[in-house]
Amino acid sequence: MCGIVGYVGHRDVTELLLEGLRRLEYRGYDSAGIAVQHGAEISIRKKAGRVHELGKLVEANPVAGTAGIGHTRWATHGETTDINSHPHVGGNGEVVIVHNGVVENYTTLRAQLQQRGYVFRTATDTEVIAHLIAHQLSEQLKLGSDPERPDTYVTAVLAALAQCKGTYGLAILFRDAPNLLIGARLGSPLVVGVGQGEFFLASDPSPLVGYTDEVVYLSDHELVVLTPAGMELRHRDSGSLTPSIQTIEQTPADIELGDFEHYMLKEIFEQPTTLENAMRGRLDDDEATAKFGGLNMEPQQLRRIDRIVLTACGTSWHAALVGEYLLEEFARIPTEVEYASELRYRNPPLTDTTMIFAITQSGETADTLAAMRECKRKGHPTLAICNVVGSTIAREADGGIYLHAGPEIGVASTKAFTSQVTVLTMLALYLGRMRHLSYPAGHRIIQQLREIPQKVAQALESFETVRKIASKYASYDNFLYLGRLYNFPVALEGALKLKEISYIHAEGYPAAEMKHGPIALVDPNTPSVFIVPRGGIYPKVMSNLEEVRARGGPVIAVACEGDDEVADMADDVLFVPEVDEFLQPLVTVIPLQLLAYQIALLRGCNVDRPRNLAKSVTVE
Ligand code: G6P
Repeated sequence: MCGIVGYVGHRDVTELLLEGLRRLEYRGYDSAGIAVQHGAEISIRKKAGRVHELGKLVEANPVAGTAGIGHTRWATHGETTDINSHPHVGGNGEVVIVHNGVVENYTTLRAQLQQRGYVFRTATDTEVIAHLIAHQLSEQLKLGSDPERPDTYVTAVLAALAQCKGTYGLAILFRDAPNLLIGARLGSPLVVGVGQGEFFLASDPSPLVGYTDEVVYLSDHELVVLTPAGMELRHRDSGSLTPSIQTIEQTPADIELGDFEHYMLKEIFEQPTTLENAMRGRLDDDEATAKFGGLNMEPQQLRRIDRIVLTACGTSWHAALVGEYLLEEFARIPTEVEYASELRYRNPPLTDTTMIFAITQSGETADTLAAMRECKRKGHPTLAICNVVGSTIAREADGGIYLHAGPEIGVASTKAFTSQVTVLTMLALYLGRMRHLSYPAGHRIIQQLREIPQKVAQALESFETVRKIASKYASYDNFLYLGRLYNFPVALEGALKLKEISYIHAEGYPAAEMKHGPIALVDPNTPSVFIVPRGGIYPKVMSNLEEVRARGGPVIAVACEGDDEVADMADDVLFVPEVDEFLQPLVTVIPLQLLAYQIALLRGCNVDRPRNLAKSVTVE
């Protein structure tokens, strides 16, 4: 939520900042802006709208320099206008900042600063930080601090931040200190890219790809001082720290569209590969189990676990629901799925033998992070199932499992969902084999998992059929998505995908529960998408399908290849290959991802950047 980029070094910064913002745009796209320093002057270009609008503005009014900061905004305080766009200026232009986060006490601070004569030009909370830093800087200079020394600026920043309540990832330039860039973090992610005589700052490593693969992740209450000559990392309380430099493995190809029209489509089609990657090296034929390198828990400790809490938001929450079914079926461990935004403020009774898993693609979702920290604070083993290596949740968890799905850039999550479900299946196998699951049963699960990438590739062959069905239904304004057991979370996920990217109202429901309310919505203008692959519950779901048909509701069915019975009953069918019931979500979700994509395209929606949403929700 909001993307920050910064640079100090020897390159011309303008295109570097704009390209960085394009790569970060998935984090927010209400407005964008850059500030470029040249000598004792900082020029700002900012504009409501997407980064390409900013690009046009910069083309018309070029700026040049070798230090700068940039921002792409997901608005929290203040409308999406040019003036409210970042960067924001403090004092009389001596401080320029970009900010990701929320200043909770900004009204009080604003009033205090106004009393001191500071003039506010925007409706944002961020401007408060800019003026506070400017104010503290002028106090430092009055006390005789040396304007040539970076310490003067660091002291001012720390004094200003000490007054702010809330969260921030910040990049700061000072008009009178060219070639000095300061970054600070509390709650919102920030990473430093380490180059030769140059340094980068960013909300995540994507803007650094192609420039450097050496990074330093900032932790809360840390601040970094960057000049072309070097970096200094400090903690608010304990002073200088030795930076821990890590290597990122992304390549420019990972974040390019290639032949695809949209990231979402690229990511949908990557799924056979991403599922291979999620399983690579983790299936153990000899022991008929799974193995994970980073759980950091002894087998004895894992065997004592008698309850699991899975916590997540959005699509990751839907994957967690599939995980609940898997863990209870195969490991026989009572499992609950909690919205992270609820868990963080609830006080559920957790015992010594409860294990918490935070499930998150980005590893930065504010609610998931807060829920995990709350559980950790109470002393529970807290693990993460996460995609982004080096993200805050990945770093703070006691252990975990990476998805290895590569960067997911489309705002609507697709490949992360199937990778999460695959990892949860392996986790259920692993914990199950420590308990009641037999060797042959474990062996069967492994065999079936190995076939999944191929089955997903087959499910992707529905692309053309989906396109035709989408054109038939794209003008409808309400949809129901119905499924049972393992396909109930898929119904929720299918409905969410449609809502997110095509702005159509859609509800996911357990197919039979539909009789207790949503059936009242059924009419010829409300299509129902039934997920009805063969399995133990098939006849029951077919009865639910009949109930909808009897009331004149159009039916789109997701069914197993060759299922003529469904083909006769439904108006339209999307076929998927047959797999065992516990693996069905991995194939049944594919045509639903494609359906949402095609309908959104037909309705002229921005598939990769849906309105009001952001990929990584780093505010509460
Ligand atoms: C946002 C995204 C969703 C995502 C959710 C959780 O709402 O738009 O696609 O599922 O956050 O994100 P996480 O990174 O924690 O999985």
